[in-house]
Amino acid sequence: MWSKKDLIGLKGLTKDEINIILDTAQSFTSILTREIKKVPTLRGITVANLFFEPSTRTRSSFELAEKRLSADTLGISAAASSVVKGETLLDTVKNLKALLCDIIVLRHAFAGAPELIAKAVPDVGVINAGDGMHEHPTQALLDMLTMRQMFGRIEGLKVLIVGDIFHSRVARSNIYGLKKFNAQVSVCGMYSLLPKGIDSLCRVYVDLDEAIEKEKPDVLMALRIQKERQEDGLFASLREYYRAYGIDQKRSSRLAKSSIIMHPGPINRGVELALDTADSDRSAILVQVTNGVAVRMAVLYLISSILRKGQEK
Ligand code: NCD
Repeated sequence: MWSKKDLIGLKGLTKDEINIILDTAQSFTSILTREIKKVPTLRGITVANLFFEPSTRTRSSFELAEKRLSADTLGISAAASSVVKGETLLDTVKNLKALLCDIIVLRHAFAGAPELIAKAVPDVGVINAGDGMHEHPTQALLDMLTMRQMFGRIEGLKVLIVGDIFHSRVARSNIYGLKKFNAQVSVCGMYSLLPKGIDSLCRVYVDLDEAIEKEKPDVLMALRIQKERQEDGLFASLREYYRAYGIDQKRSSRLAKSSIIMHPGPINRGVELALDTADSDRSAILVQVTNGVAVRMAVLYLISSILRKGQEK
């Protein structure tokens, strides 16, 4: 049974809880292919989307998920809010509560911001849409849903995550989530982009060709180079990065026929992926995007059912 009013990260969820979200999301996919893609499930629920960092996919799929479920929605970007006038995050959130918002979807550069506000406003639901270098739970959930659809299971899947692991909240959430399903997770990147202690969580490679050869991954997940979080000098040049870690035709031809390539977006074509890799038959990148709406519908639905129970008391 689902019992949480917040979704902060996958580290704190059980395998059963993740399965509940994935099963609910899978059932919502059928609404998204109907002619009228709307159900009244969240009628009367107000969701504020608070985005303090840029976003295209996450923000639009949360907004669509809310609309598909008939919630009332607010969209707030840092640049257009009173944050630029000096208002703190906590004050912004308290004001949203005073406006009777039920759920806050938060993207913030500060790791820990969603947890902080979840504690500060205990009767408001909080969904982490990416906090700094910490977690991005709904991204990992949509990745896991995509894997489950493509392979019929997550258990035992071999997932190789390539690139800027150090700065990636997507990598962290995927590692936490996938390991609960006993997937065989490995990471590959240059030393400067690997977090300390990562070898206690999964196998680690610095050579991508060796990693592909040894791991024989079912899923090759490339990550964006997080230039906005980089200090200078973590690697020499984008061209060199591409040569060492870029997924091109030659590297993808060494994967098994059934293997897929994933990327959370936004893609830097010619850096993490060759110009045409994202458009190849192996690419599941746009399936991931589509699944983002169903996963966010599931999370909003499950959290709102807990909030409604609280209101009944
Ligand atoms: C990711 C993010 O913002 O963490 N993007 C996303 O949500 N799809 C990955 C990234 O920005 O590289």
